[in-house]
Amino acid sequence: MNQAISFIDLATQRDRIRDRIEARFSRIMDQGSFIMGPDVMELEAQLSDFGGMAHTISCASGTDALLMPLMAWNIGPGDAVFVPSFTFAATAEVVGLAGAAPVFVEVLPDTFNLDPAHLRRTIEETLAKGDLTPRAIIAVDLFGQIADYPAIRAVADEFGLKLISDAAQGFGSTLDGRMAGAWADVVATSFYPAKPLGCYGDGGAIQTDDVGLADVLRSIRVHGSGSDKYDNVRLGLTGRLDTFQAAVLIEKLALFPEEIEARMRIAARYSEMLDGIVAPQTIAPNIVSTWAQYTVRVPGGRRDAFMSSLKEAGVPSVIYYGKPLHRQTAYRHWPVGGNGLPVTDQLCTEVVSLPMHAYLDEATQDRIVEAARAALV
Ligand SMILES: Cc1ncc(COP(=O)(O)O)c(C=O)c1O
Repeated sequence: MNQAISFIDLATQRDRIRDRIEARFSRIMDQGSFIMGPDVMELEAQLSDFGGMAHTISCASGTDALLMPLMAWNIGPGDAVFVPSFTFAATAEVVGLAGAAPVFVEVLPDTFNLDPAHLRRTIEETLAKGDLTPRAIIAVDLFGQIADYPAIRAVADEFGLKLISDAAQGFGSTLDGRMAGAWADVVATSFYPAKPLGCYGDGGAIQTDDVGLADVLRSIRVHGSGSDKYDNVRLGLTGRLDTFQAAVLIEKLALFPEEIEARMRIAARYSEMLDGIVAPQTIAPNIVSTWAQYTVRVPGGRRDAFMSSLKEAGVPSVIYYGKPLHRQTAYRHWPVGGNGLPVTDQLCTEVVSLPMHAYLDEATQDRIVEAARAALV
């Protein structure tokens, strides 16, 4: 009997860094520095170095990391924020939470990321309709691949919009060696455990080069604090990252560059071996993806059979995402660009993600590829 294959293996990495994390935990326990302890400051400085941005504001989740900039810019009722529909709910959820309207935009069939031409048309349509004021764009680095920021930034500049990078999956991904912060006003990421850079609970971070915005975000993080935490100058949140999670992240960040390299190597091997069997997400040669997911398209209504066959062979697979946001009960009353989103709809019927993590060995990968091949003959 073959060993069960994990979809994401967090245990191998944990065993590499367990001693170092436990030493940090023990110091935090001794100090009682549970909230905004020294590890939080240390992590923020390291993340700024890593992402090449002046300010990092750690926070309680990736969702807060997206919501807080909207709050800081006073985006709310009557405003439109342009988002993909082929993404995790939080990307659009934060717009609704801020009181504004998410307007759903199409993605490209090969990269699965925001389609800049459709984005432009949707903004023009919104302006022509006149009921909402365009304020911002949230581009998602889906499955780890950096979005087409040069093109999206040009659209944002043309219409005077803010640009947020939802890098929950793609924090660390590069285009021509540059991360999303080279183009976006704000980079927001999640440290949910299954993310390429994850902690052992919930966590997130916001990065920006704008010092004024960074100050407002730090205030929002602690209930809109002013000169001290009992001076409340705006609405805010309990938005802090706790010190234990910062300690985990410091140790994981030290391994992250080598893990991104491993993910790139594993993804390239998948793509080579799966060539002619299934169509994977396309990555341009000038992109380094963090490969949060390795996702392929199985067309022709064969996805369910493909997944069952993999399951029988002991290979787990997951659908990200089976239902687009613009068709979800909580989101379907918000506007959709153009005449609907046919690419998004199609992707939702075809995509399936295979096991992917930095510690996937070649023998296991061979088993997965063999099962995929057998499933489709
Ligand atoms: C694209 C995307 N945006 C936002 C989030 C929200 O992050 P969190 O779960 O940390 O709130 C996630 C992940 O969960 C995500 O995948």
